[in-house]
Amino acid sequence: MIVAPSLLAADFGNLQRDVEMVNHSVADWFHIDVMDGLFVPNISYGMPVVAAIGKYAQKPLDVHLMIVDPDRYIGVFAELGAAILSVHYETCTHLHRTLQAIKAEGMQAGVALNPHTPVSLLEDCIADIDVLLLMSVNPGFGGQTFIENTYKKVRQARTLIAQAGSKALIEIDGGVTTANAPELKAAGADAIVAGSFVFKSADPVATIAELKAI
Ligand code: DX5
Ligand code: ZN
Repeated sequence: MIVAPSLLAADFGNLQRDVEMVNHSVADWFHIDVMDGLFVPNISYGMPVVAAIGKYAQKPLDVHLMIVDPDRYIGVFAELGAAILSVHYETCTHLHRTLQAIKAEGMQAGVALNPHTPVSLLEDCIADIDVLLLMSVNPGFGGQTFIENTYKKVRQARTLIAQAGSKALIEIDGGVTTANAPELKAAGADAIVAGSFVFKSADPVATIAELKAI
Protein backbone atom coordinates (compact mmCIF):
# COMPACT_ATOMS: atom_id res chain seq x y z
CA MET A 1 0.00 0.00 0.00
CA ILE A 2 0.89 3.62 -0.41
CA VAL A 3 1.86 5.14 2.95
CA ALA A 4 1.28 8.85 3.55
CA PRO A 5 2.51 10.18 6.91
CA SER A 6 0.40 13.14 8.08
CA LEU A 7 2.53 16.12 9.06
CA LEU A 8 -0.26 17.32 11.34
CA ALA A 9 1.42 15.19 14.00
CA ALA A 10 4.95 16.46 13.22
CA ASP A 11 6.95 18.69 15.56
CA PHE A 12 6.45 22.13 13.98
CA GLY A 13 9.49 23.42 15.81
CA ASN A 14 11.50 20.84 13.90
CA LEU A 15 9.55 20.71 10.66
CA GLN A 16 12.57 20.42 8.38
CA ARG A 17 13.88 17.51 10.47
CA ASP A 18 10.54 15.71 10.30
CA VAL A 19 10.15 16.30 6.55
CA GLU A 20 13.64 14.90 6.01
CA MET A 21 12.78 11.89 8.18
CA VAL A 22 9.91 11.14 5.78
CA ASN A 23 12.23 11.70 2.79
CA HIS A 24 14.59 9.06 4.17
CA SER A 25 11.81 6.59 4.99
CA VAL A 26 9.91 4.24 2.67
CA ALA A 27 6.85 6.53 2.80
CA ASP A 28 5.28 7.37 -0.55
CA TRP A 29 3.55 10.73 -0.05
CA PHE A 30 3.43 13.65 2.39
CA HIS A 31 -0.13 14.06 3.69
CA ILE A 32 -0.83 17.73 4.38
CA ASP A 33 -3.97 18.70 6.31
CA VAL A 34 -5.25 22.23 5.75
CA MET A 35 -8.11 23.31 8.07
CA ASP A 36 -10.02 26.57 8.24
CA GLY A 37 -11.87 26.53 11.57
CA LEU A 38 -15.16 26.63 9.66
CA PHE A 39 -15.64 23.34 7.86
CA VAL A 40 -13.87 21.70 10.78
CA PRO A 41 -13.58 23.08 14.33
CA ASN A 42 -9.79 23.28 14.20
CA ILE A 43 -7.24 25.45 12.35
CA SER A 44 -4.06 23.64 11.34
CA TYR A 45 -1.72 25.58 9.07
CA GLY A 46 -1.81 27.48 5.81
CA MET A 47 0.23 28.46 2.79
CA PRO A 48 3.55 29.53 4.39
CA VAL A 49 3.82 26.20 6.22
CA VAL A 50 2.90 24.22 3.11
CA ALA A 51 5.59 26.19 1.23
CA ALA A 52 8.12 25.32 3.97
CA ILE A 53 7.22 21.63 3.71
CA GLY A 54 7.48 21.77 -0.08
CA LYS A 55 10.92 23.33 0.12
CA TYR A 56 12.35 20.15 1.69
CA ALA A 57 9.91 17.42 0.61
CA GLN A 58 11.25 14.99 -1.97
CA LYS A 59 8.02 13.03 -2.38
CA PRO A 60 4.59 14.00 -3.74
CA LEU A 61 2.47 16.37 -1.65
CA ASP A 62 -0.97 14.91 -0.93
CA VAL A 63 -2.94 17.97 0.19
CA HIS A 64 -6.23 17.43 2.06
CA LEU A 65 -8.34 20.58 2.16
CA MET A 66 -10.79 20.74 5.06
CA ILE A 67 -12.02 24.20 4.10
CA VAL A 68 -15.25 25.74 2.83
CA ASP A 69 -15.36 26.87 -0.80
CA PRO A 70 -12.05 25.20 -1.76
CA ASP A 71 -12.33 26.42 -5.38
CA ARG A 72 -10.84 29.74 -4.22
CA TYR A 73 -7.49 28.12 -3.50
CA ILE A 74 -6.98 25.54 -6.26
CA GLY A 75 -4.47 27.70 -8.14
CA VAL A 76 -2.59 28.56 -4.95
CA PHE A 77 -2.06 24.91 -4.00
CA ALA A 78 -0.93 24.10 -7.55
CA GLU A 79 1.72 26.82 -7.19
CA LEU A 80 2.72 25.37 -3.82
CA GLY A 81 3.50 22.09 -5.55
CA ALA A 82 0.57 19.86 -4.59
CA ALA A 83 0.54 16.62 -6.60
CA ILE A 84 -2.86 15.53 -5.28
CA LEU A 85 -5.49 18.02 -4.12
CA SER A 86 -8.44 16.56 -2.21
CA VAL A 87 -11.58 18.53 -1.46
CA HIS A 88 -14.45 17.46 0.76
CA TYR A 89 -17.64 16.36 -0.97
CA GLU A 90 -19.53 18.22 1.76
CA THR A 91 -17.95 21.56 0.74
CA CYS A 92 -18.54 21.44 -3.01
CA THR A 93 -21.83 22.53 -4.59
CA HIS A 94 -20.43 21.91 -8.08
CA LEU A 95 -18.09 19.01 -7.43
CA HIS A 96 -17.65 18.06 -11.08
CA ARG A 97 -16.54 21.59 -11.91
CA THR A 98 -14.12 21.59 -8.97
CA LEU A 99 -12.55 18.30 -10.09
CA GLN A 100 -12.05 19.66 -13.59
CA ALA A 101 -10.45 22.81 -12.17
CA ILE A 102 -8.00 20.75 -10.08
CA LYS A 103 -6.99 18.70 -13.12
CA ALA A 104 -6.67 21.81 -15.29
CA GLU A 105 -3.98 22.98 -12.84
CA GLY A 106 -2.05 19.74 -13.44
CA MET A 107 -2.90 18.03 -10.15
CA GLN A 108 -4.64 14.76 -9.38
CA ALA A 109 -8.16 15.31 -8.11
CA GLY A 110 -9.23 13.82 -4.78
CA VAL A 111 -12.58 13.76 -3.04
CA ALA A 112 -12.83 13.21 0.73
CA LEU A 113 -15.95 11.82 2.40
CA ASN A 114 -16.86 12.40 6.05
CA PRO A 115 -17.73 9.27 8.02
CA HIS A 116 -21.46 10.00 7.63
CA THR A 117 -21.36 10.63 3.87
CA PRO A 118 -22.32 7.59 1.77
CA VAL A 119 -19.98 6.36 -0.94
CA SER A 120 -22.97 6.01 -3.26
CA LEU A 121 -23.18 9.82 -3.60
CA LEU A 122 -20.12 9.62 -5.85
CA GLU A 123 -21.79 7.35 -8.40
CA ASP A 124 -21.95 10.10 -11.03
CA CYS A 125 -18.41 11.42 -10.69
CA ILE A 126 -16.30 8.45 -9.61
CA ALA A 127 -14.87 8.21 -13.15
CA ASP A 128 -13.46 11.73 -12.72
CA ILE A 129 -11.81 11.06 -9.36
CA ASP A 130 -8.13 10.12 -8.99
CA VAL A 131 -8.15 9.61 -5.21
CA LEU A 132 -11.14 8.75 -3.03
CA LEU A 133 -10.22 9.79 0.52
CA LEU A 134 -12.41 7.99 3.04
CA MET A 135 -12.34 9.62 6.45
CA SER A 136 -12.10 7.02 9.20
CA VAL A 137 -12.49 9.71 11.88
CA ASN A 138 -14.43 12.98 11.90
CA PRO A 139 -12.04 15.46 10.27
CA GLY A 140 -10.42 18.18 12.34
CA PHE A 141 -7.99 16.50 14.70
CA GLY A 142 -5.24 13.92 14.78
CA GLY A 143 -5.10 11.17 17.35
CA GLN A 144 -8.75 10.07 17.20
CA THR A 145 -10.11 6.53 17.30
CA PHE A 146 -10.64 4.67 14.02
CA ILE A 147 -14.32 4.21 13.06
CA GLU A 148 -14.97 0.52 12.32
CA ASN A 149 -17.69 1.24 9.72
CA THR A 150 -14.85 2.32 7.41
CA TYR A 151 -14.18 -1.27 6.32
CA LYS A 152 -17.68 -1.49 4.85
CA LYS A 153 -17.19 1.82 3.04
CA VAL A 154 -13.90 0.61 1.53
CA ARG A 155 -15.68 -2.44 0.11
CA GLN A 156 -18.49 -0.25 -1.24
CA ALA A 157 -15.94 2.09 -2.81
CA ARG A 158 -14.10 -0.84 -4.40
CA THR A 159 -17.35 -2.02 -5.99
CA LEU A 160 -18.31 1.46 -7.22
CA ILE A 161 -14.85 1.99 -8.75
CA ALA A 162 -14.95 -1.39 -10.50
CA GLN A 163 -18.46 -0.82 -11.87
CA ALA A 164 -17.48 2.57 -13.30
CA GLY A 165 -14.12 1.40 -14.65
CA SER A 166 -12.59 4.24 -12.61
CA LYS A 167 -8.87 4.36 -11.83
CA ALA A 168 -9.47 6.06 -8.46
CA LEU A 169 -7.22 5.03 -5.58
CA ILE A 170 -8.87 4.49 -2.18
CA GLU A 171 -7.05 6.31 0.62
CA ILE A 172 -7.97 5.99 4.31
CA ASP A 173 -7.42 8.84 6.76
CA GLY A 174 -7.73 8.84 10.55
CA GLY A 175 -6.74 6.54 13.36
CA VAL A 176 -4.79 4.21 11.08
CA THR A 177 -2.35 1.84 12.81
CA THR A 178 -0.79 -1.56 12.17
CA ALA A 179 -3.84 -2.96 14.01
CA ASN A 180 -6.37 -1.89 11.35
CA ALA A 181 -4.22 -1.50 8.21
CA PRO A 182 -4.27 -5.23 7.30
CA GLU A 183 -8.08 -5.31 7.28
CA LEU A 184 -8.15 -2.04 5.32
CA LYS A 185 -5.88 -3.59 2.72
CA ALA A 186 -8.00 -6.73 2.58
CA ALA A 187 -11.11 -4.58 2.06
CA GLY A 188 -9.44 -2.88 -0.92
CA ALA A 189 -7.61 0.21 0.34
CA ASP A 190 -4.71 1.43 -1.81
CA ALA A 191 -3.28 4.11 0.48
CA ILE A 192 -3.20 4.88 4.20
CA VAL A 193 -2.57 8.12 6.04
CA ALA A 194 -0.97 7.91 9.49
CA GLY A 195 -0.21 10.85 11.76
CA SER A 196 0.04 10.08 15.45
CA PHE A 197 0.91 6.44 14.91
CA VAL A 198 4.05 7.49 13.00
CA PHE A 199 5.16 10.69 14.71
CA LYS A 200 4.41 9.67 18.30
CA SER A 201 6.24 6.37 17.91
CA ALA A 202 9.75 5.82 19.26
CA ASP A 203 11.16 5.16 15.79
CA PRO A 204 9.04 6.85 13.06
CA VAL A 205 11.17 5.49 10.18
CA ALA A 206 10.67 1.94 11.45
CA THR A 207 6.95 2.54 12.01
CA ILE A 208 6.56 3.75 8.43
CA ALA A 209 8.37 0.60 7.28
CA GLU A 210 5.98 -1.55 9.33
CA LEU A 211 2.99 0.10 7.67
CA LYS A 212 4.59 -0.25 4.25
CA ALA A 213 5.17 -3.97 4.81
CA ILE A 214 1.45 -4.67 5.32
C1 DX5 B 1 -7.82 14.57 10.40
C2 DX5 B 1 -6.76 14.60 9.35
C3 DX5 B 1 -5.85 13.43 9.37
C4 DX5 B 1 -5.01 13.35 10.62
C5 DX5 B 1 -4.73 11.90 10.88
O1 DX5 B 1 -8.72 15.60 10.19
O2 DX5 B 1 -7.36 14.61 8.07
O3 DX5 B 1 -5.02 13.39 8.23
O4 DX5 B 1 -3.80 14.05 10.51
O5 DX5 B 1 -4.12 11.79 12.11
P1 DX5 B 1 -4.10 10.43 12.91
O6 DX5 B 1 -3.38 9.41 12.07
O7 DX5 B 1 -3.39 10.79 14.18
O8 DX5 B 1 -5.54 10.03 13.13
ZN1 ZN C 1 -6.04 14.27 6.27
